Amino acid sequence: MRRIGVLTSGGDAPGMNAAIRAIVRSGIVHGLEVIGIEYGFQGLMQGQVRPLTAQSVSGIINRGGTILHTARSEEFMTPEGQQRCAATIERHSLDGLIIIGGNGSYQGALLLNQTCGVRVIGVPGTIDNDIPGTDYTIGFDTAVNTALDAIDRIRDTADSHGRIFVIEVMGRHDGQIALEVAIAGGAEAVLIPEFRTDMLQLCEKIRGWQTRGKKSCIIIVAEGAASGADVATTITQITGIQTRLTVLGHIQRGGAPTARDRVMATQFGEYAVRLLKDGQSNWMVSLDGSTVTHRPLEMVRQGRRMVEADRLTVVNITAT
Ligand code: F6P
Repeated sequence: MRRIGVLTSGGDAPGMNAAIRAIVRSGIVHGLEVIGIEYGFQGLMQGQVRPLTAQSVSGIINRGGTILHTARSEEFMTPEGQQRCAATIERHSLDGLIIIGGNGSYQGALLLNQTCGVRVIGVPGTIDNDIPGTDYTIGFDTAVNTALDAIDRIRDTADSHGRIFVIEVMGRHDGQIALEVAIAGGAEAVLIPEFRTDMLQLCEKIRGWQTRGKKSCIIIVAEGAASGADVATTITQITGIQTRLTVLGHIQRGGAPTARDRVMATQFGEYAVRLLKDGQSNWMVSLDGSTVTHRPLEMVRQGRRMVEADRLTVVNITAT
């Protein structure tokens, strides 16, 4: 093992830069050359690569986004796309590849391993925290705290006017972000894709809260559960109470990573290099409780990471 590549793929996540830094610096310590691939698998197909040195990753641990840029590439999944990637890997003599990204990126990595035999290691990087086999993905904590800051601000104005606010958060098909911010933000209710919400029952609760003089009402909606706009309209239709909507959107993906994301990213990155150095392939670095370990990349094919039903109960009980 002499030269390895690193790329970021799919949606960017705060902390990806910290992972790149850790990979480059520990790679160098292990006597490896580290090549950065720009724009994810798209860049791998197009041969957009550059060497990374200890200096080139200096001053990035605190920066959001990814210095390597990222992309979502469908062409990459085609046989022709795979062949183009294999050609870049061969041209630059890459012995291994570290992919920082989410579920979709790992499917691509496994395919690439089959196509050209390059060793692949995944580092979980997505704000969604939705990868099966790991308790944490880089970017989740920052996204949650960014959303929470916005929710706290909305609570101020909601309290002042005695209003109902529906706040839509990201998370793709999963409710991890929604549930976390709902608990931390003291939301009155949360809608997540993993569990069905009875809108009539929710509206009944809202009416009850209003009658009892509750000042404001924050309803968190995971984008994968419903559109926030539809939820707001339904609440207004059923209760007759005007409802305001805020869609937080991509603001949740930006900003300086929190301490937790920097620490996790650094530990994950360093661990990924050790796996490659040991000649390993087809693993994802993973957090099991508080231990950094590894799990088969294949686990991404086993469906989704479930939310704990108990946490939804916590929101409901503490909202009364
Ligand atoms: O996977 C990260 C994520 O931010 C999801 O929460 C969201 O559904 C999606 O990416 C948005 O993707 P895009 O930036 O391509 O619109």
